[in-house]
Amino acid sequence: MSQHTVLTGITTTGSPHLGNYVGAIKPAIAASRDPNVDSYFFLADYHALIKSGEPEQVRQSTLEIAATWLALGLDPEQVTFYRQSDVPEITELTWIITCQTAKGLMNRAHAYKAAVQENLDTGEDEDHGITMGLFSYPVLMAADILAFRADKVPVGRDQVQHLEMARDIAQRFNHHYGDLMVLPEAVVEDHVALLPGQDGRKMSKSYNNTIPLWLPEKRLRKAIMKIVTNSLEPGEPKDPDDSALFTIYAAFADPAQREAMRQAYREGIAWGAAKQQVFELINGELAEARERYEALVARPGDVEAVLQAGRDKARASATPYLREIRRAVGIRPLA
Ligand code: TRP
Repeated sequence: MSQHTVLTGITTTGSPHLGNYVGAIKPAIAASRDPNVDSYFFLADYHALIKSGEPEQVRQSTLEIAATWLALGLDPEQVTFYRQSDVPEITELTWIITCQTAKGLMNRAHAYKAAVQENLDTGEDEDHGITMGLFSYPVLMAADILAFRADKVPVGRDQVQHLEMARDIAQRFNHHYGDLMVLPEAVVEDHVALLPGQDGRKMSKSYNNTIPLWLPEKRLRKAIMKIVTNSLEPGEPKDPDDSALFTIYAAFADPAQREAMRQAYREGIAWGAAKQQVFELINGELAEARERYEALVARPGDVEAVLQAGRDKARASATPYLREIRRAVGIRPLA
């Protein structure tokens, strides 16, 4: 018997970068190997529609993200790995719980409030550019979680409010219709590395400082050579604790490698030589997975087949559960 059901979704917009790898993908795959957890990983393609109206971009990102997780060792035999849109029970549940969700609760969502504030700041109507998708997105996210009775949901800090909303919705449902829903809990990993980007700020698409995870070797080297350093010359001692380059190295290094690099900094290693070592370490970690990734992206049919099998596994649990939920709310056979 599994002790916990752990579930996490990845919105299919864009391509993964080194910060996603270090901060989310790698720890999640490691955690999924724990035999005491039942893990659900899904590609949140309906969430992607909130942000992107570009069909080809949604498809491409779905393929790249699925291939990334598989190439890095997510085992679809051990976990349930599926695409949100393949599981119609999720959107059915979305409507059922939408009818139990206070509008006032959604009014308080940070992402929605930020969008309204930006409109007011720029002199626009408060609703300008805001879709019902953006407004009710926490309800879809709650359905993602509640449909699988997940009790633990690893997320970033920015998602904690959504987990509180999911709990709130589940509680309200249970109170009204009987105890059918599991109250989920956010799991925020505070100790995972926040990787700096090329300019030293947190690696993030919004700062335009990311290093894509699957750059070919030569371009990866070039991108690493562009990480900002200061103007200290070779031979001058350098401070590892004030160096984005060192932080990036440390995120990939084992303790002995980290200590050796600290020593090299103290001894005045040249920035170019330090960058070369960073490149070699990261490239060494990713090279084999990169080959698997490229092979997968070149055979989308294989990735599709994995997702179809995942859909069957996901529905084996969600279909009977939704039947119970529907019954509970009065959507049931007449005779
Ligand atoms: N909203 C999450 C994000 O932007 C992605 C997501 C969608 C998710 N559904 C989920 C995460 C359910 C955890 C559980 O990161």
